[in-house]
Amino acid sequence: MSILLKRIKTKDARIGIVGLGYVGLPLALEFARSGYNVTGIDKNMERVESLKKGKSYIIDVTDSEVKQLIKTGRFNVTGDASVLSKLDAVIICVPTPLTKTKDPDVSYIISVSQEIKNYMHKGQLFVLESTTYPGTTEELVLPILEEGGLKVGRDFFLAFSPERIDPGNKQYSVRNIPKVIGGVTRHCTELARCMYSAIIDTIVPVSSPKVAETVKLLENTFRSVNIALVNEIALMAGRLGIDVWEVINAAKTKPFGFMPFYPGPGLGGHCIPIDPLYLSWVAKKNGFELRFVALADQVNSAMPEFVVEKITDALNGAKKSIKGSNIHILGVAYKKDVDDVRESPALEIMNILRHKGARVTYTDPYIPEINYHGLRARSVPLTKAFLNKIDCSVIVTNHGNFNYDLIVSHSKLIVDTRNALKGINKKHIVRL
Ligand SMILES: NC(=O)c1ccc[n+]([C@@H]2O[C@H](COP(=O)([O-])OP(=O)(O)OC[C@H]3O[C@@H](n4cnc5c(N)ncnc54)[C@H](O)[C@@H]3O)[C@@H](O)[C@H]2O)c1
Repeated sequence: MSILLKRIKTKDARIGIVGLGYVGLPLALEFARSGYNVTGIDKNMERVESLKKGKSYIIDVTDSEVKQLIKTGRFNVTGDASVLSKLDAVIICVPTPLTKTKDPDVSYIISVSQEIKNYMHKGQLFVLESTTYPGTTEELVLPILEEGGLKVGRDFFLAFSPERIDPGNKQYSVRNIPKVIGGVTRHCTELARCMYSAIIDTIVPVSSPKVAETVKLLENTFRSVNIALVNEIALMAGRLGIDVWEVINAAKTKPFGFMPFYPGPGLGGHCIPIDPLYLSWVAKKNGFELRFVALADQVNSAMPEFVVEKITDALNGAKKSIKGSNIHILGVAYKKDVDDVRESPALEIMNILRHKGARVTYTDPYIPEINYHGLRARSVPLTKAFLNKIDCSVIVTNHGNFNYDLIVSHSKLIVDTRNALKGINKKHIVRL
């Protein structure tokens, strides 16, 4: 342990990041910037080639950042897992999606663990950052790593540290988001703490990987449940003729005991719709039912249908039907100012509208084309002439760079699911 600790402290340790996506790439660059020699490993050769050429594919990372760090020689990328044998510390940032039956799909974690096992040697530190259910690090990863006879805490070190990055967030990024770390042994936690403190201001050690795994799932379950609550309040407010946005804005003036969450077209992204289901899966396996998670999933999953109902009612008011109407979706990314469509409610809304016979188009400055789960389309430039041909525009994602003046002035009808047109009260605008 002492040799590795010294190498980490002196920044002689060679760090590897497996999985260079939204989580892994910013992390790799931050370690390289701080003076470590970093190797990024990704199976996706398109991504590897792109980074080698100094081109980023992640919205929060610029080409010049990548170019500069590649040029210094402190950041290298490869698709070849054998490089793992040359590294002192390896951080795993691979996807953790759901299977078709909405169970955790930990196959990426298993496959990386097996690769590591093939190349590991004494004195290495491994940290899992992928969001996963409590028990994964010690019950799934650890047995694979120990298959070759090396022992955790003595021959190698293993910890879990959840990634809390919020893509598109300009205020909080890798450095100023506190990092929770739970090692399998005390030495595991200490080594990981020392490594991350080079790039992160606040480290929060916890007693075990299980605690660290649960921290992440609690955070995202908290968001999912609160969003579901406010979505349900929005449905009720609609019935009662109350403006839910006004209610929330007034409620949030309470300086304690209230935190604002906002209704919307449904959940999206790689975290909030998925992570709570990891928690309920492990709970169920242990004979416990997490009722809040199930209810939140039910309420949030029904929101795209509700948006379609709003569009139907709005068109009805103009004596039109969904069938045969030109409906234009504004924003298909799962949230404001990001370029990620994974699990985006916009896709489900588009699919439902198409099934009902609407001609559906979209504009998203961040998503030039969609080719996702059978839905293929291209973003249309937003012009006065184009909007004039549309029967209903639907704001699904409130990107900051939309020309809202143009949208308000030239749309016949607007359904605004995000209160993007806050303060504008016109007859042709319908809010969630
Ligand atoms: N995206 C977010 O906002 C966010 C935030 C916090 C936590 N997380 C969690 O972080 C993890 C990663 O998410 P992401 O959004 O970065 O995913 P991503 O899909 O953007 O990136 C994952 C990368 O891993 C690569 N990969 C898969 N298997 C591999 C293997 N065997 N070897 C090498 N590379 C491999 C993929 O090619 C891909 O480039 C997930 O568990 C996610 O839940 C994501």
